[in-house]
Amino acid sequence: MHAWQVDDFGHYHDAMQWRETDRPTPSGSDVLVKVDAIGLNFPDILMIAGKYQVRPPLPFVPGTELMGTVVERGPESDLNEDDRVMAMSGVGAFAEYCVAPSGARFRVPDGMSDEDAAAFQMIYQTSYFGLAVRANLQPGEVLLVHGGAGGVGTSAIQLGKALGAIVIATAGTDAKMEVCRQCGADHVINYGTDDFVAAVKDFTNGNGADVVYDPVGGDVFDKSTKCIAWNGRILVIGFTSGRIPDIRTNRILLKNMSVVGLHWGAYRIHEPHLIEEAQETLYGYYDDGKIKPVIFNEYALSDLSEALDAIEQRLSYGKIVVKPQI
Ligand SMILES: NC(=O)c1ccc[n+]([C@@H]2O[C@H](COP(=O)([O-])OP(=O)(O)OC[C@H]3O[C@@H](n4cnc5c(N)ncnc54)[C@H](OP(=O)(O)O)[C@@H]3O)[C@@H](O)[C@H]2O)c1
Repeated sequence: MHAWQVDDFGHYHDAMQWRETDRPTPSGSDVLVKVDAIGLNFPDILMIAGKYQVRPPLPFVPGTELMGTVVERGPESDLNEDDRVMAMSGVGAFAEYCVAPSGARFRVPDGMSDEDAAAFQMIYQTSYFGLAVRANLQPGEVLLVHGGAGGVGTSAIQLGKALGAIVIATAGTDAKMEVCRQCGADHVINYGTDDFVAAVKDFTNGNGADVVYDPVGGDVFDKSTKCIAWNGRILVIGFTSGRIPDIRTNRILLKNMSVVGLHWGAYRIHEPHLIEEAQETLYGYYDDGKIKPVIFNEYALSDLSEALDAIEQRLSYGKIVVKPQI
């Protein structure tokens, strides 16, 4: 099979080689799938560079999220050949075939397209755990979503609305602001040109946001502490700005706020049953039309670098889907 392989950590332009390699073999309750579509995520770039919290042993095939068709079952698998599944593989998705491990692997519902299935799990699971489980977002509360046009950002806007919140979103361009509106945001701010602290205070009559969803970090996190409501919660999702912010604990005390972390992947180790429950809830929202992945573009797997460029250069919105067969 063809796959992108990383021999040494580095920038994806240099570190990835398009190679003929052996198909992996599934064991236990794992299955081998023919990859039909891959979902790209910002952490893919970090993992190839060796800058992600997970550093796979070298050499490795990167790629964390995929959907495909089962072609070979591990001896303990409860799936059948030809079943359509979506999976978080950890590594290995940038290939024509990939092992889909049990744990974060689900049958794709009838009626869900390959593209939606490839783009579904990472963003909606992350935002559901962030908003519903960690921040305990309540109907009628004000949710501020930073980087609202990004992968997890679009999912947080849609899920915020599904959970009954009033949603404010920030984004860096007019086109991305429009994406936030299409996802259901009640109010959108260009945080590249406008002061989002003043805009959030203005929109909330001075109260601020009850929950802040922050995949950006850096200055955006710092400023968010200035427009958070009494009893507010700031969700630490990621650091696309490149700076991990610090916060003085007196600020947490004075604002009566909580700084809440989320490490979605670790639920697979600590509370895997919650991932399955969340997936059922998310499929329900999908059936009801409350959530649907926003797809920026599709690329051929052989053009993966071009697709990753769109994420790195901040040109994309929503999710990028990559296919081995186009
Ligand atoms: N905690 C968890 O369990 C978990 C799970 C999944 C993902 N994450 C994290 O969530 C973050 C977002 O992931 P994603 O896949 O949704 O990424 P994405 O689609 O690339 O979206 C990231 C957004 O960040 C904004 N941004 C602000 N400054 C940026 C910069 N300097 N460079 C690039 N983007 C910048 C961009 O919006 P504007 O251009 O509008 O500013 C962009 O839309 C990542 O840090 C990822 O590691 C965390």
